[in-house]
Amino acid sequence: GLQSFRLLIILCVDVGGLHTSCINIDDDFTMSCWGLDCLARGVELIEGAYLEGNKSLNNWDVLSHIPGKIKDGRNGDIADDHYHRYMEDIELMHELGINSYRFSISWSRVLPRGQFGDVNPVGIEFYNRLIDAVLLKGIQPFVTLNHFDIPQELEDRYGSWLSSHIQEDFRYFAEVCFREFGDRVKFWITFNEPNLFLKFAYQIGRYPPSRCSEPYGNCQSGDSEREPYIAARNVILSHAIAVDIYRKKYQVKQGGSIGIVVTSKWFEPLTNSTADCLAAERALAFEAPWILDPILRGAYPQQMLEILGSRLPPFTLEEKKFLLHNKLDFIGINHYASNYVKDCMLSSCNLDGYGRDALVITTESKDGKLIGDETGLATFNSVPYGIEKMVLYIMERYKNVPTYITENGYAQQSQGLSKEELLNDTERVKYISSYLDYLSSAIRQGADVRGYFCWTLLDNFEWVFGYTLNFGLYHVDFQTQRRTAKLSAKWYKKFLSAEKLQL
Ligand code: NOJ
Repeated sequence: GLQSFRLLIILCVDVGGLHTSCINIDDDFTMSCWGLDCLARGVELIEGAYLEGNKSLNNWDVLSHIPGKIKDGRNGDIADDHYHRYMEDIELMHELGINSYRFSISWSRVLPRGQFGDVNPVGIEFYNRLIDAVLLKGIQPFVTLNHFDIPQELEDRYGSWLSSHIQEDFRYFAEVCFREFGDRVKFWITFNEPNLFLKFAYQIGRYPPSRCSEPYGNCQSGDSEREPYIAARNVILSHAIAVDIYRKKYQVKQGGSIGIVVTSKWFEPLTNSTADCLAAERALAFEAPWILDPILRGAYPQQMLEILGSRLPPFTLEEKKFLLHNKLDFIGINHYASNYVKDCMLSSCNLDGYGRDALVITTESKDGKLIGDETGLATFNSVPYGIEKMVLYIMERYKNVPTYITENGYAQQSQGLSKEELLNDTERVKYISSYLDYLSSAIRQGADVRGYFCWTLLDNFEWVFGYTLNFGLYHVDFQTQRRTAKLSAKWYKKFLSAEKLQL
């Protein structure tokens, strides 16, 4: 079963004289999962084997083979070759001392043609072996059903998330997974970061199917004003459909729980003017609550309704009832960075693509001074207090529903750095330990946070950044597939094994 760690009083971890991280806990609290979150989308991020074992092409396979779409022109065909090396990787996880592993199931490996074809026994076999192997090491699988990827056929046939047909396809996929793996998987996530992929796919057009319109992005087809919201409606209903089927047919027998993962930056007002404060609230509402409000409250956030009006396709009364009947058991939060927000509703400014709908401009610096420390990429800046504020915001808004930090990690740009430099990732250690400090502060204030997953085990194929941006605790040499522990891996191991973590 799931182990519980009770953290009492003060937890201090000395990191080889480099940096000392102290988590000051004055009240009791439990945090049941210390994990790593690696597999994302099962496939190319680390799995590779993109056409092996009857797997079909998915939307990311297709995109990553189009010249110009991926920063370094590379793809995820092989990636970390985890498909063949998962036993070695599970050994690394075991050595680190984690007790949960979050990964996703590749839809196109399990159902290469969605509901238009058969279940692929080779795909089922692979995930059975993976699940059994992690459990043997005492590691709980945390499984995501959809991490951005869909069989390409569903895109070609009916336009994937833009069509309500996807709801039936997703139900079918979810049910196959519950049936095949639910005897051993006790944590299910329906979607990873829908609030991010919907914007990237249908508003700024950087993710497949690359749809957008001016002035949001530079694409040939699409409607940035409406399509993200049409697709979101299908995602939200698909979530509830999966929860419904899980609760009706599997949950009691299998004894697991089911939730959804959203991402959100923390947003600070650029100045303390009322306009900027309201703008920061709007920016927040347009991120996580866009997805979580309909699920937990049956309606979109007020700010979205007011600004978007008829651009936001409504839920019928029946659908609202259905949503409220099939909410979730936990919220997963992916949190990395924070931004300042400037108002563009009451004051005039040139809106950029990202904040256009919320009528805000988001920015990393004020008077030339960064909001936090810059990491490998400005959009992943390090603002440790942001995680505390984000968790408290979610706690208050959703009445302290159980929460997991399903992703948090340090982005490093790898181009031009030697292997030695990459291995000596003191900044990553600093980042993770200070975010944990602030997370513990939120927990002391009552937030029901049950686990923390660090993104991620291995350097891997980072979507449109290709291999230029790494988050791994382990360095991967993509010529030899050799994995080498970075300083951060050694630190995390020490942190997890600290005596006070174990009761
Ligand atoms: C968000 C996504 O869930 C994951 O796939 C991605 O690699 C990391 N965060 C880092 O960008």
